[in-house]
Amino acid sequence: MGGVSRETMKAIVIARPGGPEVLELRDVPTPTPAAREVRVRVRACAVNRADLLQRIGAYPAPPDAPSAEIPGLEIAGEVDALGPGVTELEVGQAVYGVVSGGAYAEAIVVPARTLARIPAGLEFTNAAAVPEAFVTAYDAAVVQGGLAAGETLLVHAVGSGVGTAAVQIARAVGARVVGTARHESKLERARVLGLDHGIVPEPGPSFADRVRAVTGGGADVALDLVGGAYVPETMLALAERGRAVLVGLMAGSRGELDFGVILRRRLSLRGTVLRARPLEEKILAAQLLARNLSPLFASGELRPVVDRVLPLERAGEAHEYLASNDSYGKVVLTVG
Ligand SMILES: NC(=O)c1ccc[n+]([C@@H]2O[C@H](COP(=O)([O-])OP(=O)(O)OC[C@H]3O[C@@H](n4cnc5c(N)ncnc54)[C@H](OP(=O)(O)O)[C@@H]3O)[C@@H](O)[C@H]2O)c1
Repeated sequence: MGGVSRETMKAIVIARPGGPEVLELRDVPTPTPAAREVRVRVRACAVNRADLLQRIGAYPAPPDAPSAEIPGLEIAGEVDALGPGVTELEVGQAVYGVVSGGAYAEAIVVPARTLARIPAGLEFTNAAAVPEAFVTAYDAAVVQGGLAAGETLLVHAVGSGVGTAAVQIARAVGARVVGTARHESKLERARVLGLDHGIVPEPGPSFADRVRAVTGGGADVALDLVGGAYVPETMLALAERGRAVLVGLMAGSRGELDFGVILRRRLSLRGTVLRARPLEEKILAAQLLARNLSPLFASGELRPVVDRVLPLERAGEAHEYLASNDSYGKVVLTVG
């Protein structure tokens, strides 16, 4: 491995719970793949809100994470070593995928079947911006929400990593998209991706009446990335038999919900999370990436939205930038 010895590699470690300053670049043991695992030489990874929560001690790594101290939920790189029994990948292949942790490192060991091959034409820095945002958005909107051609998708925080992915996916399946953001500038940028209607919520938040007006009766599917008081308002913004998928809780995990709206309009509300899923469902997520998304990146129909690229050792700065809420799309870290 270029720059990585058999014994040690560089990684960002959460030294203790705290601010961005607790992210320390350290030499740690280079992991060795066991049966059905591969080691990937990480070339780029991306930053997620969950990494910020893990850093402050509010979101511990699950038991199957490659590391409890090294954050990072998505990688792009090259297969560097194979464990026994791996037949689906070869050394040198360019791969990307969602991982359970440990991405902020020069190398990572993961189950081979949780990775997908990077489509031709996608560089590592762009590929690293894909897995978490696009798998989450496709799985939530299309697989769980059942978004279909001719329907309308409502996406909150439309300028986020997941939001910018959701807009493109909705367009790719033939749906219309309404998005919310707290600043007009992000709505403007999302229009380039295919956003049909952008709404800056009034304080409250209040947006349901405007969603119902521009959609002629409400959205069919909603991706709620914000949570808190957005959830009851999102239910009011849905059409008859609408489906809301709760993806994030940036505004909190509590709110007051009128069950009567759900009952009368025959709505559904479900939650989703990628990281806590068992291995067999993580393999399904990798298959979704390979079968449903990679071809659309190869054809140019989908494209990663990368706001900023920083070297791994500036991970703390990347965390600060994400926390500022100024980012649009993904923040990527290059490795080695
Ligand atoms: N369930 C899963 O498996 C899964 C997977 C990936 C991500 N997520 C979640 O999905 C959400 C989006 O993630 P991401 O990585 O795409 O986010 P991101 O790129 O960091 O963007 C987040 C954006 O949300 C907006 N925002 C932040 N706090 C807000 C609040 N209190 N009220 C309204 N808007 C707020 C900000 O934009 P503006 O205010 O400018 O609009 C901010 O830039 C997060 O909650 C994340 O944890 C869940």
